[in-house]
Amino acid sequence: MELSQNLLHIIYLLASLSFILGLKMLSHPKTARNGNLIAGVGMTLAIFATIFLYHNAEGAPIGNLPLIFLGLIAGTVIGYVMAKRVKMTSMPQMVSFFNGMGGACAALISLNEFGKYTENNYVETLLNGHVLMILLGIMIGSVSFAGSMIAFGKLEGKIKDYVLPRQQLFNVLLLVIILGLGAYLMVQTEGKTGLLYIITLLSLLYGVLFVLPIGGADMPVVISLLNSFTGLAAAFGGFLYGNRAMLTGGILVGSAGTILTILMCQAMNRSLLNVLVGAFGGQSGQAAATSTEMGVIKEITLNDCAILCNYAQRVIVVPGYGLAVAQAQHITHEFESVLEERGVEVKYAIHPVAGRMPGHMNVLLAEADVAYDKLLEMEEANPLFKNTDVVLVIGANDVVNPAAKDDPTSPIYGMPILDVDESKTVVVLKRGMSAGYAGIENRLFFNDNTRMLFGDAKSSLEKLVKELKNI
Ligand code: TAP
Repeated sequence: MELSQNLLHIIYLLASLSFILGLKMLSHPKTARNGNLIAGVGMTLAIFATIFLYHNAEGAPIGNLPLIFLGLIAGTVIGYVMAKRVKMTSMPQMVSFFNGMGGACAALISLNEFGKYTENNYVETLLNGHVLMILLGIMIGSVSFAGSMIAFGKLEGKIKDYVLPRQQLFNVLLLVIILGLGAYLMVQTEGKTGLLYIITLLSLLYGVLFVLPIGGADMPVVISLLNSFTGLAAAFGGFLYGNRAMLTGGILVGSAGTILTILMCQAMNRSLLNVLVGAFGGQSGQAAATSTEMGVIKEITLNDCAILCNYAQRVIVVPGYGLAVAQAQHITHEFESVLEERGVEVKYAIHPVAGRMPGHMNVLLAEADVAYDKLLEMEEANPLFKNTDVVLVIGANDVVNPAAKDDPTSPIYGMPILDVDESKTVVVLKRGMSAGYAGIENRLFFNDNTRMLFGDAKSSLEKLVKELKNI
């Protein structure tokens, strides 16, 4: 048995290493696929090692094997089918759903473990931190589960933003009650299973009320925050079981989620508090300001646009959320190939928060087989714009809005943007004059060197490629 326990710990160590290596590799599109695979193999190893090698203090192996395998098979099939079917634009919903499941698991583990500690001397369990870990696992796991389900519903368009009167005050009160009940339960564990269920229910309610008022378009930030909560809750589970792989995995998810949340807020130049209590983003899709004071826009015909691109030396494509909506990634790649064949240098400038989730544009363009070395990060692209003949802005809006640089009253003031206005000509592909996520007007569209090409991005590009081929 000692041998199997040693082997188990070695496998946990290998699994932990695979999570760290996998996470590191996820930070670049070239290595991300393999990184995901490595971490997945590590997790599979940890699961099977636990099932077959774990023995409790009395030397008994894990029981209920048929039930465990039934759960594993059901989860694998459901996860596989969902991941295969999901559209790229629905990825944030799926992440939210999976994250919610993680939160629910962490809460259920804690609920299940509580019984074991109520029978023991509560002073001992209080001192060794087990009841605290159980309580934190239940509270954070339940908030993460309920919050993620609401976020999922909002992204699916099934749940509207909803603010109760005095909601912030109510939320703070609810939190105080949950923490108070938790503190009481910690010193008086015996026979308090009922109270634990009440804490679970109140935490679920808190999760719902926490996410309900937040603007639908702010959901990616909220999902990333809830993701870090789930990681924490899982880490508490790892502590309870003395399981190092679970502890490392939970801590990695918790810290990665927190860092991602901070990075997203920084890239939007907003504080987390502003995302959580501000209304910014709730009115996505509706133009906020009138365009009359901005001047007049100038349209370009498909033929003129094709000629402009054909005779350019360098063209930079700026993809945005609209490209994802139109699913224009493949035709964009074809556009790039036609131009490259004619000796035009084509690059893509990727803003860190273009689209609606981290890495959204990279994933879409990778799906269309765009070469990684063609993708420029904002810092690499910005110095190139002044020597660029044509910038094609495909379904992007906020990430190219000059108000971020020169209008201190703008809600996006201070957000770093792609300086496309410095190029010779900017062509903007969008359907109409609707605002982007921030709900504000964009002066770029009225600039002297900007031309608008109206229409769905995919169909405009299809026609543009046809025109190009005719030249
Ligand atoms: P947005 O500013 O949201 O603009 C997208 C534009 O695409 C809209 O103005 C829309 O105009 C156009 N569009 C929509 N469907 C289209 C279609 N089928 N064909 C052509 N155009 C279409 O996009 P962005 O520039 O990518 O900026 C992203 C925004 O999301 C930023 O404000 C960012 O802070 C925010 N955000 C990002 C993230 C992450 S992590 N990426 C997370 C949360 C929030 P029409 O309707 O007129 O066509």
